[in-house]
Amino acid sequence: MTRGQDAGTGSGIVSVFDRAAATYDHTGVDFFSVFGRRLVEIAALAPGERVLDVGCGRGAVLFAAAEAVGPAGAVRGIDPAPGMVTRTAAEVHERGLAHVRVDIGAVETLADSTEAPYDAVLAGLVLFFLPDLHTGLRTCREVLRPGGRLAFSWFGPDDPRWEPVLSAARSFRPDDTPPMPMPWTNDVWREVASVEAAVVTAGFSEPATVEEPYDVTFTDPGQWWRWSWSNGSRAILEAIPADRLAEARATCEQHLERLQEPDGSLRLRVVLRYTRAGR
Ligand SMILES: C[S@@+](CC[C@H](N)C(=O)[O-])C[C@H]1O[C@@H](n2cnc3c(N)ncnc32)[C@H](O)[C@@H]1O
Repeated sequence: MTRGQDAGTGSGIVSVFDRAAATYDHTGVDFFSVFGRRLVEIAALAPGERVLDVGCGRGAVLFAAAEAVGPAGAVRGIDPAPGMVTRTAAEVHERGLAHVRVDIGAVETLADSTEAPYDAVLAGLVLFFLPDLHTGLRTCREVLRPGGRLAFSWFGPDDPRWEPVLSAARSFRPDDTPPMPMPWTNDVWREVASVEAAVVTAGFSEPATVEEPYDVTFTDPGQWWRWSWSNGSRAILEAIPADRLAEARATCEQHLERLQEPDGSLRLRVVLRYTRAGR
């Protein structure tokens, strides 16, 4: 990673994603790919368009965008986590997608992009990690052509039924655990109005947001635990001392018992918000 590409990652969230990359969206739970496909629908990409996917991860948005623009178009994915980029680039190669490219990079280094301007900039569940949202949005705007569009997804309110489970996991972290920049720690991300206001302040026009609930299904608590290691929740689990992990898991599973369906499965309701705006 070159200098500047770790801007905003001092908290270590990128390294968490780097360690999660091997199983990210590959635990048998339908999650990021579902939201990636939906974001691409909302962006209304047309064949032949040039698209930038910011924070591409394992390609949830990227592969759907590649299909939407077709071989006459071009999709470039960037992500600061090398583990994500290596795996996604390998999949691009395996699928023979000559119009898709994936590189190490971050929002903070977009201004260097030699391939701008793009018709669309997409960011699936990424922008809430930026310590400086305004500068990040401005940079996305700079690499868009006039008339181009930005489309990004973010989380609405958490499922309150799961709060005791997550609190139980957090309670095993040592008191001096440094805070992670999670969506819910920045007030901007609480309301559609404040996010849309940030988008307008950054120079975009006519922001529109749709909110869609989605029920995630876990076959059993074990699948939930493995899934939690494969995404940003890993930050909570990694902070638990190794010699207390078994106890932490058992405590979480006690809370999960109350949420289990008769067949042992679990449902987690997530609320997705998709915001689209024009340049
Ligand atoms: C929740 S994942 C989303 C990945 C993918 N877009 C998806 O929908 O599955 C967040 C991704 O954002 C990346 N990320 C974190 N900080 C970033 C930054 N400053 N610029 C670009 N990407 C960043 C992480 O490395 C991680 O891969």
